[in-house]
Amino acid sequence: MQDMATVFNTFPVLETERCTLRAVTPDDAPAIFHIWNDARVTRYIGRPPMVSMDEALKRVDVFRTTFEEQTGVCWAIDHGGQVVGTFVFWNLEKEHFRAEIGYVLAPEWWGKGLMIEVARAALRFGFTDMGLHRIEAQVDPENAASRRVVEKLGFVQEGHFRDYYYDPVEARFTGNAVFALLKPSWLRRTEADAGGLRGVPPEAEF
Ligand SMILES: CC(C)(COP(=O)(O)OP(=O)(O)OC[C@H]1O[C@@H](n2cnc3c(N)ncnc32)[C@H](O)[C@@H]1OP(=O)(O)O)[C@@H](O)C(=O)NCCC(=O)NCCS
Repeated sequence: MQDMATVFNTFPVLETERCTLRAVTPDDAPAIFHIWNDARVTRYIGRPPMVSMDEALKRVDVFRTTFEEQTGVCWAIDHGGQVVGTFVFWNLEKEHFRAEIGYVLAPEWWGKGLMIEVARAALRFGFTDMGLHRIEAQVDPENAASRRVVEKLGFVQEGHFRDYYYDPVEARFTGNAVFALLKPSWLRRTEADAGGLRGVPPEAEF
């Protein structure tokens, strides 16, 4: 299996049609704050909206430390010089070739296909350069946009944990839909897309 250590030598910058995925810097704190200060963004994430720039700076620090400690890769989504969101691989389990994804976009950029575009580039990096075998996503079952994103990418839902998290903002329990995409399935879809068969349905893998 691939040695993942080399991935962490230099921060990987990825280019998509409309965006650059790059390392988050302290200068991005105002943009991070703008995104996470919006209740529409945090609604299904189980955290209250950020209320101070200090929280944004701490988040930047977590993003940077994640890469330094080799427990994930956190990208700023840079669109024409403006940070419009973040995409992360976290909870990296190197020995099991597995990681989880997390993503947010500022609401003014929703519905333009940006997250699908960004996620495709990040998944390619995860399965090829990082050598991951399994990529997971945990989604609030009520988060229709996020469910649609992972389903479009070919993730298969493997479980639905009822009342898994307590959301203090809305004072209610929320479920957790666990999705995963395996490398062989991703490869099949990628090859089918290249051959003009875009939209091949995900296969039942278990
Ligand atoms: C989830 C999120 C990143 C989606 O980003 P986006 O760039 O708007 O998504 P895309 O434009 O790439 O759309 C992907 C698909 O989802 C669909 N979609 C978008 N919003 C939707 C909604 N509210 N309900 C149902 N489907 C939706 C789109 O129509 C598209 O499907 P289609 O191509 O078949 O039409 C964005 O809504 C977001 O940042 N939400 C808040 C943070 C969050 O919940 N993150 C995920 C935590 S698990």
